[in-house]
Amino acid sequence: MSEQKIKDEINKILSSPTDGTVTVLSCLLLVQDEIGYIPDEAVEEIASFLKTSINEVWGVATFYTNFRFTPPCKNILEVCWGPTCHLKGAPDLISGFLDKLNLEEEGDSKDKDVSVRYNTCLGACQQAPVISINHSLRGNVKVSEISNIIDFVAD
Ligand code: FES
Repeated sequence: MSEQKIKDEINKILSSPTDGTVTVLSCLLLVQDEIGYIPDEAVEEIASFLKTSINEVWGVATFYTNFRFTPPCKNILEVCWGPTCHLKGAPDLISGFLDKLNLEEEGDSKDKDVSVRYNTCLGACQQAPVISINHSLRGNVKVSEISNIIDFVAD
């Protein structure tokens, strides 16, 4: 995507009607939800949109570890490691997914097929352990399913 297209897209996102107060954080969340990461252009556009400084926007963006500043892989796999999921086997799922993707920690697979992220609660605790594949929840996940899940996602 060209720099101008990114700027146009971000302006479209920021101009969309929202409920409630518009803040630096809410703008950053909107952009990441829509395009999957926070490009440099977004920081500039948000600063201009909110009539604040680029440093202010960078300060908020870098404070929260959930923002990413590079495009994600084709697929996003989130593994919940919240308390309920932790008790129901999330540690084994996490190590299984990382092993399958040859990763040491959350991040992008080398083939750029899958970005792995940890999530503190995916909001479906009754189905723990829970994962999300491209924003679609899947509960009661078993370690024995890891290979099939990754093969399916990366296909
Ligand atoms: S703790 Fe995992 S979905 Fe809530």
